Amino acid sequence: ALPVVRTVSHLRDAVRRWRRKNRKIALVPTMGGLHEGHLSLVRLARKNADRVIVSIFVNPTQFGPDEDFENYPRDEHGDNRLLSKAGADLVYAPSILEMYPNDFATRVEVAELTQCLCGTSRPHFFAGVTTVVTKLFLQSLPDIAVFGEKDYQQLLVIRQLVKDLNFPIEIIGGPIVREADGLAMSSRNAYLSEADRATAPQLYKVLSDMAEDLGAGRDVESTLAMGANRLRGAGFRIDYLDVRTDDTLIPLEGQVVDSARIFAAVWLGETRLIDNVPIHLI
Ligand code: PAJ
Repeated sequence: ALPVVRTVSHLRDAVRRWRRKNRKIALVPTMGGLHEGHLSLVRLARKNADRVIVSIFVNPTQFGPDEDFENYPRDEHGDNRLLSKAGADLVYAPSILEMYPNDFATRVEVAELTQCLCGTSRPHFFAGVTTVVTKLFLQSLPDIAVFGEKDYQQLLVIRQLVKDLNFPIEIIGGPIVREADGLAMSSRNAYLSEADRATAPQLYKVLSDMAEDLGAGRDVESTLAMGANRLRGAGFRIDYLDVRTDDTLIPLEGQVVDSARIFAAVWLGETRLIDNVPIHLI
C-alpha cells in the first residue's frame, strides 16, 4: 500500500526529503471516491514531475448545509490501491481538525469568475475550494498541481488564485475522462439509480450536438432553446445551460466567434451532474 500521512508536519517531512534530492513534486488534490478521471490526473502529474502527492480530503467548507457532505463516497483503502497502481508516491489524508482547527477564521476568495455558473447555484462552494486549495498548496509547496477540465470553472478559478497570490506553482489541466457511453466520470455517479444512470449519458449527447450546431454557425439562443428542450424531455431538471468564453466565462449571444464552451449543470433525481464541451468552429 502507498504511504499515507495525516498531518502537515509529516507531509512536510516527506516533501523536505524529496527537495534535498532535487525531485520535482506534483500535487493532485481530490476528495476521494476515486475513478479513472482522478487517475488520469495522477498519470499526467507523473509525466510532469518526479514525485506525486495525492490529497484526499472531503472538504466540508465547499458543501452547502443541504448538500451531500455526509454521504460523499469515502473508500480510503480502495483509493489507496488505485493510486499505487496509477503511480502516485504519497497520500495526504488529513483529518478535519488538522485542516480546520476549532478556532479557524480565514477565508480565501476569488471574485468575478466565481459569480456565475456553479457559483450562482452553490454560493459558498468556490470560497471553500479556494481556501482549502490554498492550504493544500502551502502545506505541500509543490512545483506543479493538476486539476481536471471536468470542473472547468474550478480550473479557471484556481489559475486566477495562483496568478493573483503569486503561488510559485504551475497549474496543469487534464481532459475530461468519460464512460464508454459518454457520461463524464464523477464520484457522484455512484448516487444514480439504475434508471437515472441510463438517462445520464443524454447530457453529453445533447451538449455534443449543441457544440456541433454552434460550431457550424447556428445562433446561441436557438441552440440553447433546443438543448434545454431535449434535456427536459429526457428527464433532467436544468440548473444552468450556458455558452460562455472559455477563459473569462462571458456569456455569448448570436453566432459563436470566440473560443467558447457549453457549460451545464443538471439534476437527475437528487443527483447533480455537471459537464462541459468545447465548441470547435468550422
Ligand atoms: P474531486 O471532485 O475529487 O476532483 C478532484 C480532481 O479530479 C478535480 O481537479 C476534478 O476536476 C478532477 N476530475 C473529476 N472527475 C474527472 C473526470 N471525469 N475527468 C477528468 N478530471 C476529473 O474537485 C475537487 O475534488 C475538489 O473541489 C478539490 C479541488 C479537491 C478541493 O476540495
